[in-house]
This record gives sequence, structure tokens and C-alpha cells, in this order.
Amino acid sequence: MLRLSKKYQRLIRTSEEIAGIRKAGALNTAVLDHVAEHIREGMTTEEIDRLVASFTEQHGGICAPLGYEGFPKHCCTSINEVVCHGIPSPDEFLLDGDIINVDVTTILDGYYADASRMFLIGNVRPELRRLVQVARECMELGAAACRPNGFVGDQAKAITQHAHKNGYTVVRDLCGHGVGVNFHDDPEMDHYYSGRKGMQLLPGMVFTIEPMINMGTYDCFIDEEDGWTVVSEDELPSAQWEHTFLMTENGLEIITH
Ligand code: MF3
Ligand code: CO
Ligand code: CO
Repeated sequence: MLRLSKKYQRLIRTSEEIAGIRKAGALNTAVLDHVAEHIREGMTTEEIDRLVASFTEQHGGICAPLGYEGFPKHCCTSINEVVCHGIPSPDEFLLDGDIINVDVTTILDGYYADASRMFLIGNVRPELRRLVQVARECMELGAAACRPNGFVGDQAKAITQHAHKNGYTVVRDLCGHGVGVNFHDDPEMDHYYSGRKGMQLLPGMVFTIEPMINMGTYDCFIDEEDGWTVVSEDELPSAQWEHTFLMTENGLEIITH
């Protein structure tokens, strides 16, 4: 048996850690199901934040975003041209025709799980529905391309090909990440394929796949006022789906069903 370098060894989770991460994943899924049940037109993104915060607390969990590098809320809510890291606000209402990503990271007994879904508000234009659908397919095809002892680049290639085939772009400034015993760790899961193989994906690693797919340019800027909200440079819509996965000897397993 070859010994792993320290860079890889520390990313291999024990069976005890995996059991804890699975429980965090189950709560994370329940939180997003709770959001799905209650989200509706006319609601504010602050109300979504309250749903996430109260449900998580009631079930013994902690919302990882709150206080993370100074982030002020319990989850991220990213509407239309907002790519990610939108901050819930009492002044922001969900309007007919909006698409919104709700990104929830749950800590349970010290273990982390991270997932996000898109929600369609009221009557959404067909071209926006297509963006949301293709973004979901990108996440799924990326996951399907991950092989035990394969490389990050395998999923990036699958995602980039599918996005480009559909006339969309893949955001390059943000990526998926190792998760489980902390919020953001290696491997750095680039979703845009630049020809790099990236890190190897070994059995026992836990990481997210969360491609952000843009209708126009892949370039983004950060809102200067809040220092968080990531917006597409041309302010065209963006969509994202995220799950946490465990790499096993037999392939990828989803942690956040
Ligand atoms: N959940 C996001 C991710 O997928 C990270 C949000 S960081 C926050 O990695 F501080 F904005 F919450
Ligand atoms: Co993530
Ligand atoms: Co997330």
C-alpha cells in the first residue's frame, strides 16, 4: 500500500467522521425541504433566513454562514443576476418570475454539510427555466464524471462541455470545496475546465459540487456596499445547484439527498 502525502491524508475521513457528516447532511436536506414547503411569492429573503435559522436550531444544528468571515445571516439567498452569497434582507421581496438560489450550510455535532437549490417564483420565463434546468444537469453530470482516484478536472470538463453546448458559461471565480469537518477545505473543486487535472479524488474525501452557470458572461463582480453579493458582470441571470458528496471505493455517494 502506497503511503499518501500529508496533503491528501488529512482529507480522508474516518468512518466515525462519515457517520457524523451523514447526520449533518440529513438535517441540511430537511432544512432545504422546509424552505421548499414555505417559499412563496411576496415573501422577503429575511423570512427565508428565519425559516432556515429556526428549523436548524430546533433540530440541534448551527447555521455555518452566520459570522463566517463576518457574514451577517444564516444562509445565502441569490436572486436572478446574483451568482451567489446574496444576503437575506427584510427589504427584498420574492417577485413573480424570479429565480432564487437558497444555499444552506448546516453544522451538527461539529460536522458540516453544504447544499443549495433553485426555486422558481410564480410564472418564470421559459429561458430562465432552461437555465435552471441546465445548471442542475451540470451539477449532476459533474457528479457522474467523478471517479475514485480520478481528478477534479474530470467533473470540470463534463460541466463546462454541457454548459457551453447549451450556450451558457461557467463561473471561474468561485468553486466547490472539501467540506465535512470544516466549511471550506481542499480539494478545490473548479467547475470551469481549463485543461488542468487538479487534485485527485480519493475514497474517503468529502466535497461539494456547485457549478454557477451564467446566461451571459462568466465574469462577476462583488457588491461594494455589502462586500459579499456576487453579481454577473453583465447582470444577466445565473443559476446554481449544490450537493455534498462522499467519494467511496465504488464511486460518488450523495450526502445531501
Ligand atoms: N455555502 C457557500 C458555499 O457553497 C458559502 C457561503 S459563505 C457565506 O460554499 F459566508 F456567504 F455564507
Ligand atoms: Co459550498
Ligand atoms: Co453552499
